[in-house]
Amino acid sequence: MSVTLNSPISWKNAAPDDVKMLDNLQPNIVKPHVREFLTLLFLQFNQPVGAKNFLKTLSTSMMKSAKQHLKEIEAFKAKPAKPGTPYIGLGLTKAGYNILGITKTPADGLFDKGMQKSSLNDPAVITWDPYFQHPIHAVLLVGDMLNDKKAAALDKVMSLIKKSKGVTIVGAQDGAGLHNDNKEGIEHFGYVDGRSQPLFLQEDIDAEENGTDGTANWDPGFPLKQVIVPDPAAPDPKVHFGSYFVYRKLEQNVRLFKAQEQKLADRLFGKDEEIAGALVVGRFEDGTPVTMQFEDGVESPVPNNFNYFSDKSGAKCPFSGHIRKTNPRGSGGFEDHAGERTHLMARRGQTYGVRTDNPNDGKIANKPEKYVGLLFMAFNSDIGNQFEFTQKNWANNPGFPAVPPGFPAPGVDPVIGQTPNDAARTKMEAATQWGNPKSLKKVATVPRAVTMKGGEYFFMPSLAFLRSL
Ligand code: HEM
Repeated sequence: MSVTLNSPISWKNAAPDDVKMLDNLQPNIVKPHVREFLTLLFLQFNQPVGAKNFLKTLSTSMMKSAKQHLKEIEAFKAKPAKPGTPYIGLGLTKAGYNILGITKTPADGLFDKGMQKSSLNDPAVITWDPYFQHPIHAVLLVGDMLNDKKAAALDKVMSLIKKSKGVTIVGAQDGAGLHNDNKEGIEHFGYVDGRSQPLFLQEDIDAEENGTDGTANWDPGFPLKQVIVPDPAAPDPKVHFGSYFVYRKLEQNVRLFKAQEQKLADRLFGKDEEIAGALVVGRFEDGTPVTMQFEDGVESPVPNNFNYFSDKSGAKCPFSGHIRKTNPRGSGGFEDHAGERTHLMARRGQTYGVRTDNPNDGKIANKPEKYVGLLFMAFNSDIGNQFEFTQKNWANNPGFPAVPPGFPAPGVDPVIGQTPNDAARTKMEAATQWGNPKSLKKVATVPRAVTMKGGEYFFMPSLAFLRSL
């Protein structure tokens, strides 16, 4: 037997090697861990012995496994509900492995190079948050659905760091959930986020299949090999797995984006910034996919059972829509459907920054221009084929997806697209009447309102590795 990699698994009926894998895998990889309140600590190791002792104690006394997390979710759903324990996650950079003296390091070449050397048209490193200018050896995530529980867990972690020799905190970043009036998680521009995810557990796929939304038009099930890889430095890499963790701090100029939504609406219809925003993102603020209808209000749960096959001219969802660029659902035109699916990653983002306005009040003048945004976090088994492919070959590429002959190129992703001077960021095409190709109109798109403020590639190793140090 070996770990099941070519399909999702049922964690409740897992085969023995899959159980060993889940017992040693960090939480938040195969299923999101609720972490409404989150602190990330960026660490530097100054000597290997102290750092190893720190990692060993942390992983033995404070970190739980994916399996334990899944059991906690069951206990939370039971009556009476039993609250879970805080999430503590740990990732290492290549430099971190080097200073620990570990030579069997994860093999991904981009992990080796680090994010600073990637070619994603990111802003100059000198403009990133200052702590990204220092070498970072590890990231520690501490999260919980309750702030006081997160704070207590963070206190414990901090006192362990203080007691440990050769471990220094070089940066810290808080995240905190943001919600709409339906209590759904939103990002700062006001859109429901995190709905579309690859699912790796049969129990989650069954729930989606049996839910009101169904799965006839979009299969949310993905093989485990899309999110986990053997941990080369673990005692038994045949059953001890980890995952590459991509972290990017993305500042959002909310005032600019909301004002531009209105301008785009003026250019297209003379009013209705709700639809204009949906044409930019691909979903309305409440999550309704614009490829399904031209107004918001699709009943909860937020739908994810859709594709773009009935929208070959982009007259429902523009080819440039953020969610169409980042998951064309089989319609991208350069690869077959199966190939396209291999680029999806497990997104685990969290909003950051304090809002003094009401994010849902529909006003523009009081919206923040700085210091709020998205901590983009995603688990990958292949950084080049997943995160970098999505950012570079899809979002930044004005020629993606393929369009019918005679149609203008879609342009870069209006939310996250990055080109050196934004010259390719000029026009977008959208229909003024839903689904009517004759009503397609080419208009100036929204300017860039998302600025990358730093990031790094980490590997979240198995607990077996950390405990063996
Ligand atoms: C501040 C930056 C960002 C904002 C405001 C944003 C916003 C959103 C929103 C509102 C959704 C729809 C919710 C959902 O389907 O789950 C979404 C989906 C998605 N985003 Fe982003 N996003 C950002 C950054 C990124 C980045 C950096 C990437 C990858 C390079 C990315 C990739 C995706 C993907 C793959 C989906 C799911 C598409 C689908 O399956 O239909 N996003 N994003």
